[in-house]
Order: sequence, then structure tokens, then C-alpha cells
Amino acid sequence: MAVNREQLIQQAYEVSRKRYEYNDRRRLLDAPHGVGAGYNSLLPTWKQQNFMQHVDGLMPREPSLLVRVVDFGSGPYGFFLIDCYERWGNRFDGIGINSRVAEPQEITHTYPGVRLIEGDVHNANRLIKGASADVVTSLRNIPYLVDPWKVVMIIDHLLKPGGIALLDQVPLDALIPEMERDSSLRKLFVDFLQRRGIEVILYETAWRGKLSFECSLAWQKNSEALKVPLVYGSEPIEHQLQIVDTSQALDPSAYDYFFTSVSYNIKRDVLHT
Ligand SMILES: C[S@@+](CC[C@H](N)C(=O)[O-])C[C@H]1O[C@@H](n2cnc3c(N)ncnc32)[C@H](O)[C@@H]1O
Repeated sequence: MAVNREQLIQQAYEVSRKRYEYNDRRRLLDAPHGVGAGYNSLLPTWKQQNFMQHVDGLMPREPSLLVRVVDFGSGPYGFFLIDCYERWGNRFDGIGINSRVAEPQEITHTYPGVRLIEGDVHNANRLIKGASADVVTSLRNIPYLVDPWKVVMIIDHLLKPGGIALLDQVPLDALIPEMERDSSLRKLFVDFLQRRGIEVILYETAWRGKLSFECSLAWQKNSEALKVPLVYGSEPIEHQLQIVDTSQALDPSAYDYFFTSVSYNIKRDVLHT
């Protein structure tokens, strides 16, 4: 049966609009709003440097120019962007895209450099039409997407030449059944991405009750548009992610997050190029 991608994307988006609670309170776990380690120390390192230090390196010399960060799946409060604002102040312009954004009365501070847009990251091109970014991040957002590798390409498209991206929790085997069956394909796929200058940090995770590989991705945009060697498979994949909300210290709650995504097949002929 052919997968109606648009319909799946729409359904998953509706689910995520309702189910936003968990890591949206992430920065509140250890400290009250506006205090604490924030994201600086939580982000994966890249080339032995904290990601924020890479962004420091992109800061334009001309003081009137700003560094623009677009955060995919920013959460309704845009905490990562708030951290960026605290670091770079009026040299910073941040756009967060999320399926739900907080009402003004829920926000205790205002941050002039931070703008949150309600919408689906699959439509990011349309939501921030004509904009380009020095930095794109997607932190704990990719597992909720119907078509994550398409979104990876959208992110590359949005970057200015020399701009950088950092994405975590990008599923591999879970969406590429051939890879789940034959782990040598995973190595070939990762090698392909590395040859194109993408840093792939692989790790094992539990997915649908099984051990499975996912990865963080970081790269600097070069002149060539990123084309991931995947095509859509015919079978959609049902997901059940167990979310354990430990932010309620005395009474941690757990709930299941259900949605359906596309599956991918590998373009094997491209892997060796
Ligand atoms: C686990 S939270 C992560 C938030 C934040 N990036 C962080 O690291 O704390 C995932 C967020 O992605 C949002 N989300 C899920 N699917 C989305 C979609 N298709 N488009 C936009 N936002 C989405 C959810 O509403 C939620 O706020």
C-alpha cells in the first residue's frame, strides 16, 4: 500500500501538538527558569569542541551583523535559544519552530532576540520563507518526525555556506529495515555521510523494545546540496516511544507516544560513490 506521506505528517503533527510536556520542561529539571547549566554543557561535542564554541567562531566581525540560529523543534519556550541569547545578546537572532509555542502569559521573561513560530518542521521552508541560517539545531526533535531524513536535507538547504548544523537522536535502523537486517549497510551509510563531511556519532538505544542505532549529526555547509542516499519504502512504520517524565521528582510519570512514519530503502548504488 502506498504511504500517504502528507497525511502521516499531518497526523503526527497533531499528536505532537498535544504531547509536548516531557523535555519541554528539560531546563527546569535542575534549576528555576533562567538559571542553571542550560544547554551549553548538554550538547554533543564536535571536533573536541563544545558546539557553542563553534558558533562563537561564526560570529561576524562586523558588530552590526548578527548570528542567526534556527532551532527545529525548539520546544514551546525555546530554552536553547534563550541560552544563545544569554551568550550572544544583541549579536544574536534566533528562530524556533515548534508544534506548540507558549502563550505570552506562560513566559516569565522576554528575550528580544528570540522568535518562536508555531508550525511543523517538515514545512520549515514555508514557515521561514527566504531566511537562511548560520546555525541550525534540532535537539531531541528528530525521533518525533514522520520523514526525518527529508528534514535533514531541509536543514542543509537552510544553512548559509559555511554555516553549521547539529542534530541529535537521528534514527538509523529503526526507519531503514534493510539496515536493521544487515549492519554492514549501516557502516557503508555512515561512511558515505562522513565522506561528505558530516560527523556521525553513532550510539545504541532501545527502540520498540530492541537495541537499535541512532546518531548525532554535525556538519558545515559546503557548496554541494546534501542528498541522503535513501528513497521511501512502501511500508509505513508504527512507533511507540516510551517517555518517562522524571521532572516530577516524587511521582515520575510514563506515557507512550504513538505515531507512524515513513520507512526508507537505501540507494545501494550511491553508497560507494
Ligand atoms: C522532546 S521535545 C525537545 C525540545 C527541545 N528541543 C529540547 O531539547 O528540550 C520535542 C519537541 O518537538 C516538538 N515537535 C514534535 N514534532 C514536531 C513537528 N513535526 N514540528 C514541530 N515541532 C515538533 C514537540 O512538540 C516538542 O516540543
